[in-house]
Amino acid sequence: MWEKVWNHQKIAYGGDYNPEQWPEDTWEEDMRLLKLAHIDTLTLNVFSWAALQPSEEEYRFEKLDKIMELAKKHDMKVCLATSTGAHPAWMARKYPEILRTDITGRKHKFGARHNSCPNSFVYRKYSVRLAEKLAERYQDYNNIVAWHISNEYGGECYCENCEKAFRVWLKKRYGNLEELNRAWNTSFWGHTMYDWEDIVLPDQRTEHISEEQTVAQTISIDYRRFNSDSIMECFQMEYEAVKKYTPDIPVTTNLMGAFKPLDYHKWGKYMDFISWDNYPSNEDSISKTALNHDLMRGVGGGKPFILMEQTPSQQNWQPFNALKRPGVMRLWSYQAVAHGSDAVMFFQMKRSIGSCEKYHGAVISHAGHEHTRVFREVTELGAELEKLGDEILGSVGTAQVALMFDWENWWAVDYSAGPSVNLKYYDEILKYYTALHEQNIAVDLVSEETELSQYKLVIAPVLYMTKPGVDVRIREFVAQGGTFVTTFFSGYVDENDLVIIGGYPGRLRDILGVWVEEIDALPETKKNHFVYQGETYSAKLLCDIMHLEGAQALAEYQEDFYAGTPVITCNSFGKGEAYYIGTSSEKDFYARLICELCEKQNIKPAAKAPAGVEAVERVRNHEHYLFLLNHNEEQKEVIVPEESTDLLTGTIYHKEESLTLAAKGVVILKWFEE
Ligand code: GLA
Ligand code: ZN
Repeated sequence: MWEKVWNHQKIAYGGDYNPEQWPEDTWEEDMRLLKLAHIDTLTLNVFSWAALQPSEEEYRFEKLDKIMELAKKHDMKVCLATSTGAHPAWMARKYPEILRTDITGRKHKFGARHNSCPNSFVYRKYSVRLAEKLAERYQDYNNIVAWHISNEYGGECYCENCEKAFRVWLKKRYGNLEELNRAWNTSFWGHTMYDWEDIVLPDQRTEHISEEQTVAQTISIDYRRFNSDSIMECFQMEYEAVKKYTPDIPVTTNLMGAFKPLDYHKWGKYMDFISWDNYPSNEDSISKTALNHDLMRGVGGGKPFILMEQTPSQQNWQPFNALKRPGVMRLWSYQAVAHGSDAVMFFQMKRSIGSCEKYHGAVISHAGHEHTRVFREVTELGAELEKLGDEILGSVGTAQVALMFDWENWWAVDYSAGPSVNLKYYDEILKYYTALHEQNIAVDLVSEETELSQYKLVIAPVLYMTKPGVDVRIREFVAQGGTFVTTFFSGYVDENDLVIIGGYPGRLRDILGVWVEEIDALPETKKNHFVYQGETYSAKLLCDIMHLEGAQALAEYQEDFYAGTPVITCNSFGKGEAYYIGTSSEKDFYARLICELCEKQNIKPAAKAPAGVEAVERVRNHEHYLFLLNHNEEQKEVIVPEESTDLLTGTIYHKEESLTLAAKGVVILKWFEE
């Protein structure tokens, strides 16, 4: 079964459009240009709160009415934003409580955006009221395909309101102070809480040494949970408000990929569909972008998502805002579709004339006409997407491999004081992901809560925080024949960041058949080595010193006082196997390991392709779509796996035939399989 994300007959094409920043007599010309570029969807009203509500009791919708009519007249679908990503100045003046206090304890003034305290009663009241008014007013527009709540939620607040709300949140989580004192291990450094009023937010006046360093990990992790929940509540309240009038219009908010502060796995459960903004720099690896796409698909439970924003050419906020080279915008757009997007959307339709985004890429440049490289490329892609019709929409991925990427674990690993400042959860995830991605092995990004039985291989790098039930699911998965892989610094703590005593890796110990006695942290200049499958690789960052408890050593350290002790092990457990990788290594090692594991489990790449050619498959009932994306500067040959048709050119290919992919080229092969 498959399902469309929203009411569209084709891959949606469009993005953020801010006509309210322009004189009305320019709008028709904008429409002419956007139609020329095959744009069919406009994200409207993202930052208009100040205009829509100029004072406490006054709402003015006349301009937005005209914009909605303009979109309708030109047969544009609308992704309608609620504008609550930046509050009006009068509100800050009248109700300073809506202003955030940052981690240093500094109260902010009016300015910038994404600046409202998520626990402010006033912010919640007026943001929800605006969302409701918009839904009431525009409910009869049948061209609204989605609600876009706020914009790129994020940030933190450490104000007194948030402090009070934190105490309420903690009461709900722990019930009583005794339990809270236990979970927070407050006997350390005399932190016992006698009264709920004793609890203060963990900021740089209290537990934090810097933004990222805390002396009280559990408190800081709880703050992150609380902050993510607080902001999510703002989303949910607006969600409910628009649903009152438009129960059938799906609701989203634009996420940001691997964005650390918000637990997107949790958010995903409350969003009708996932949408996200993709802004890689030209230096980012293709795998890094792919990881973000797969993570966003994972957050949505595997369903297709919407690429809500990307730049058609360059950004404005990077140190060096390089242009996307010719063909790259098209290539990266199809990369998003390959990984599950049912839309290609841009920020922005038209460059503004003032403030910090005036040099951000746009479909309509400051020249104001269609004779630009970017406009031509946008138009060509628009024509192609139109030709694709309803192909691909709703199709899903085919992964047999799951990679665990868990937000609470991320916070816990990165907050840990020791064993190494260089240990970063995301970096370790990326190493494994890259090895899979570069071999074109499809992978689902899952949380600790995900049911694992549908996979053949599950990799959980640095599974430090083992939340209740995760070991049970892993144990069952391996017992039933699955292959499980984890690494150093796994199984150490429970959901409260309290160490599970009795020896590392805690609850995973029986599955892995090892006991880790010590963990050595190597400075950047030091390496150990090991031989795996006849090749020598380096052991870096952390080196576990362990004992076999049923597992078999596959590689041993070569140097130091632990030379000869195991570094990589494999344990037979039930019908399956559990691997333990006791150190961090280099790219070639991960490539080798993944290759071995996939071969053993008979997991095949989407296609056999040369380096730099990405192959990704989506399926919809019996229809298979294979995307071949050539990220190289030169053309490449790919062997066609099935008798198929290139959807973009109509060319028919035979099985095993060699296909030539142009530099930066894209081919989408389609075939049917019963
Ligand atoms: C984000 C925002 C947009 C815009 C772009 C610029 O994604 O959502 O409003 O600021 O960045 O890259
Ligand atoms: Zn606050």
